[in-house]
Amino acid sequence: MKGLILSGGKGTRLYPLTYTSAKQLIPVANKPVLFRVIEAIRDAGITDIGIVVGDTAEEIKAAVGRGGRWGIAITYIPQDQPLGLAHAVKVSRDFLGDERFVMFLGDNVIQGGISELIGQFAESEWNSQIVLTRVSQPEQYGVAELDDSGRIVQLIEKPKDPPSDLALVGIYMFDHHIHEATESIAPSWRGELEITDAIQWLVDHDYRVYPYVHRGWWIDTGAPSAMLEANGLVLEELTPTVEGYVDRDSEVDSRVTVEKEAEIVNSVVRGPTIIGERTRIVNSYVGPFTSIYHDVVVKDSEIERTIVLEHTQIHSIPARIQDSIIGRHVSLTRSPIKPKAYKLTLGDHSQVGIL
Ligand code: TTP
Repeated sequence: MKGLILSGGKGTRLYPLTYTSAKQLIPVANKPVLFRVIEAIRDAGITDIGIVVGDTAEEIKAAVGRGGRWGIAITYIPQDQPLGLAHAVKVSRDFLGDERFVMFLGDNVIQGGISELIGQFAESEWNSQIVLTRVSQPEQYGVAELDDSGRIVQLIEKPKDPPSDLALVGIYMFDHHIHEATESIAPSWRGELEITDAIQWLVDHDYRVYPYVHRGWWIDTGAPSAMLEANGLVLEELTPTVEGYVDRDSEVDSRVTVEKEAEIVNSVVRGPTIIGERTRIVNSYVGPFTSIYHDVVVKDSEIERTIVLEHTQIHSIPARIQDSIIGRHVSLTRSPIKPKAYKLTLGDHSQVGIL
């Protein structure tokens, strides 16, 4: 079997973070989501992986490389425009050949990996296997209607009146019949070749599409709140290690990971939390569900349930920073210069909540 990861797209819901960089490279618990996806596929025994890339191709290639560090081979597949998930399959035709494959959205995180799913599909006669999970607001997802025997009747995108609470998770398995489907369907009202339409085509043409109901959590990290939620869930599953330095005046609980060369000085850190390489936490409080990436300084400040990206400086902030995502090379400081005012240089679509 081969693996196909979709890492094109525009990432508009994560602006401004994704104006200049790929959303799949935003770290969750200090590891880019895309690396987590690669590892899930590798752990299922697949070593030939294609990554569909768009405008952020160069950044993704630089971060991921050719796969040697994971013991796999990576092929990059350019997609000129994000014309839909089924379009991404179409442009991958040469890479996929006639093999069975798993397609994984590069911004999705799933609990427990996918080895079981892949094992089941690899040995089956099914033409496709889709992954479903129960959600509380099915009208926001692609939803599956199953008949009494558990077979798929219909897939509907964002239904106003959902026939079930079973939403499609961003992991799909196909055999070569999907290529006939992607050639046969037309773009949807939003101008995209939809993977749900391609799967519906398989169902309508009597191909065997098997629904697998996933019981753990699954998160599409496409929006900021989901990114923070995924970060919390992954942090809870991390096995904490302390490789950095914690001084005697600090209080760091057992659910905190302190990466190499990080320093915690006169601070309180409560887990689950991760402090990245060469990051310094000084005279500060870092609360649960926080991931601070590498080369960051947090000084005289309080921060909780937040993701901070690399090379950012946070100094002397008078109120606690909470539920936030802070980008790379950001400087967040209290300015002593009069007049006393907020002095902001924010990118387009930034969101700031002030006391
Ligand atoms: P989406 O989150 O549906 O789309 P997007 O990345 O453009 O984000 P937004 O809605 O915020 O603008 O895409 C899911 C994943 O699939 C994501 O990793 C990007 C990837 N993708 C492609 O590779 N090609 C495509 O044509 C599309 C639509 C998405």
